[in-house]
Amino acid sequence: MLAKRMSNFSGSPTSALIARVAELRAEGKNIISLNVGEPDFGTPDYIKVAGIKAIVDNFTKYTAGTGIIDLRKAISAKLKADNGVEYETNEICVTVGAKQAIFNAVMAIAGEGDEVILPIPCWVSYTEIIKLAGATPVFVKVKNDEGFALDLEAIEAAITPKTRGIIICTPNNPTGAVYTEESLRKLAELAVKHDFYVISDEIYEKLIYDGEKHFSLASISQEVKEHTVTINGCSKAYAMTGWRLGYLAATKEFVSGIGKIQSQTTSAASAISQKAAVAALTGPQHDLAVMVAEFDKRRKYVMERLNAIKGVSCSMPKGAFYILPDISFYLGSTSDEGIKINDAKDFAKFVLEKEQVALVPGEAFNIEGRIRISYSNSMENLCEAINRLEHAFSLLRA
Ligand SMILES: Cc1ncc(COP(=O)(O)O)c(C=O)c1O
Repeated sequence: MLAKRMSNFSGSPTSALIARVAELRAEGKNIISLNVGEPDFGTPDYIKVAGIKAIVDNFTKYTAGTGIIDLRKAISAKLKADNGVEYETNEICVTVGAKQAIFNAVMAIAGEGDEVILPIPCWVSYTEIIKLAGATPVFVKVKNDEGFALDLEAIEAAITPKTRGIIICTPNNPTGAVYTEESLRKLAELAVKHDFYVISDEIYEKLIYDGEKHFSLASISQEVKEHTVTINGCSKAYAMTGWRLGYLAATKEFVSGIGKIQSQTTSAASAISQKAAVAALTGPQHDLAVMVAEFDKRRKYVMERLNAIKGVSCSMPKGAFYILPDISFYLGSTSDEGIKINDAKDFAKFVLEKEQVALVPGEAFNIEGRIRISYSNSMENLCEAINRLEHAFSLLRA
């Protein structure tokens, strides 16, 4: 018999979708994936070269649990230069992707009987990681009508003596929202006043548009920094999802605890990936700029096309590579072949089977009546995918 915790959390809600996409492809169907959570760009060459060099040099052994010193120095310099926060190298822990950093952080702050607040919609893994730690996720809706901004009043109302933390993500997956400095300052006040941690997931920091500025909560003050766990990594900014390289920064005591978790789980991130990450953070940032400019073009194109579809609306995302259009106008409708669309899940299934476009229903992120479109795909594919979506909507009748 499996442990009780195994029935208390779920695997990725998108895995069934991925399996179905694979099946349809095996049948020869031309599926366009608008469900991907990673850049469709290759890892820049200078980073790959650093990884290859690490292998050739036999830099292929265990490293210190919290990461090689060169990388922690590079992260420390990055956090100071980009985010205005001074973290010493012993306040940084390198992890197996940002996901492990979040997992470690939640394990360190919450357990049985504790609560962690989650502004929703939110990334699929937060909820399950909190449950895996034995704690309870407390959902608080963001302000959908105000660009998915944090609802500070609702967050304050959700705080109880059991609150151990909140997980925020800016720029946000799945909404694309970039939280304002003002809202983050208010959140920081609450964290200090009620003495809980903010796990600040900043993995999409570099993917930001329209001159928006990313603001790091930990930069507010020493007191706020002590209540913050800053999460980041190389996956999105450097197209390095498969290298599995993330990190967290927090107080020395916190990081020393995280080091213990790490030493008894993964030991450390891959030595090769760590060397590649040093190159990523300290090397030329040109490829990143090219990627952001291309994402920006696609974002504008997809937004224009989506907003031109009757009954579909979405606010302009300011970061990441996702759009979360409202399709509630079509809920309750029926297709020409009599397929009933009761919710976004039904719609996602319908477009996959009928038009061969894969996207993620909002339910996966705790929001109804919306679908998440990832524009991490070529312009040509995006154009064809929206044509197909348009056709799918045209088949639905109230
Ligand atoms: C919001 C958010 N945080 C963290 C991650 C995980 O990043 P990594 O691949 O570095 O584990 C993702 C990946 O999709 C994400 O969307």
